[in-house]
Amino acid sequence: MANIDFKKRDSFTSKYGVIAAAAGSAIGLGNIWRFPYVVGENGGGAFLFIYLAFIFAIGIPVMLSEFTIGRSAQLNPYGAFKKLAPGKPWYLVGLMGVGAAFMILAFYTAVAGWTFEYIYQSIINGFEGKNSNELGVMFDSFRESSFRPILWFAIFMFLTSWIVISGIKNGIEKYAKILMPLLLVLIIVLCVRSITLPGASAGLKFLFKPDFSKITTNTVLQALGQAFFSLSIGMGTLITYGSYISKKNNLGNTAVSVSLADTFIAILAGVAIFPAVFAFGIAPSAGEGLVYKTLPAIFQQMPGGYIFSLMFFILLGVAALTSTISVLEVIVAYFVEELGMVRKKATIVASLSVSVLGILSVMSWGALKNVTLFGENIFEILNYTSANILLPLGGLLIVAFIGWYYGGAKTKAELSNNGTLKAKYFPVFIFIIKFIAPIAIAFVFLNSVGIIKF
Ligand code: PFF
Repeated sequence: MANIDFKKRDSFTSKYGVIAAAAGSAIGLGNIWRFPYVVGENGGGAFLFIYLAFIFAIGIPVMLSEFTIGRSAQLNPYGAFKKLAPGKPWYLVGLMGVGAAFMILAFYTAVAGWTFEYIYQSIINGFEGKNSNELGVMFDSFRESSFRPILWFAIFMFLTSWIVISGIKNGIEKYAKILMPLLLVLIIVLCVRSITLPGASAGLKFLFKPDFSKITTNTVLQALGQAFFSLSIGMGTLITYGSYISKKNNLGNTAVSVSLADTFIAILAGVAIFPAVFAFGIAPSAGEGLVYKTLPAIFQQMPGGYIFSLMFFILLGVAALTSTISVLEVIVAYFVEELGMVRKKATIVASLSVSVLGILSVMSWGALKNVTLFGENIFEILNYTSANILLPLGGLLIVAFIGWYYGGAKTKAELSNNGTLKAKYFPVFIFIIKFIAPIAIAFVFLNSVGIIKF
């Protein structure tokens, strides 16, 4: 058993394993479910453009900062900040990350559970003969129902916990390595089918042709939030993973590879979805149901749609699982290393307490649909606040920590493994995290609350 203890920490075994596990965390429902619907709600191409700018100018540097913190400290986010900044309040960033992990895991597992419903519907051929309108109704009524969404949530949470209990190498790495490439192949097949549908070009135009008149202050904040959410940054997931990475790994290369892979999959998901959205007359702004309503319609138009649909939803479930385990891992590593619990107990306590919040979010369209704040239900509040506020705020503090507290010398020593690895990018990186990234994040925040206008 590969348990984490204080004497011998568990670790990833190979370079590909590190990338596969970090990419497994990054690539998930955020790319395939969240990205298309947020793009759809925010007017398409211009949003994509801002999103990409944020990934490169802010996302990659934050990711590298997280890896640096985790690998230097060899601890969970809370413990890492305590160790690297003794007696200073930086550990609060770690605590905020644990809080964000609770919120994200709660609503994310709800969506992950929807993949099980869609696997089930694929098996029983439940999409057969339905037009896109009927498929939409099917999704909405499933989400409003009371029993199955909770059942699927519980099963998904159980699976996540089971893998986390079994440890890093045996669990995360093994699953991520085999299944992520397969998911990529299926998405490419979907893209081909989608762009060859009659009327598909309107979707490509929507996705790639920027119309900056559609940009509002909130759009910019959402693009930032989506970038953070998709890369799994801002709450210490990659601090935790960084603590399992070997000192010989070139973290700069890893951060770039993971971010490129993540961005590539998000764009492919967009290419698979939007042409079909336009071809079938679905509203791009259909919200959280967009992908679940559109994909079955595409499968109906494909030879072998039955098997593709089944495989796709299974792989989407697995992609979600490699992300949920990384989120749960943040909470578990904190419980084990800071509260002294054994790994199994920590996992059970964490997953049961997340489930309370999770079940409330599952019920957000059913029994609890009238429980709202500013017109948003429980699910939407968790989703919006964690991605658009907590993660960018965490990211701001993480880069400020590396740039202004931990400092260039120690950071360079960590990234270059005391000068044994190349880190030519270093001057650019340190400049970005000292100035560009914190100022940009602060601007987006101030802009979205209306304090400044740009
Ligand atoms: N990045 C994941 C996705 O795109 O599906 C979601 C996620 C995982 C967000 C881990 C945050 C996190 F810490």
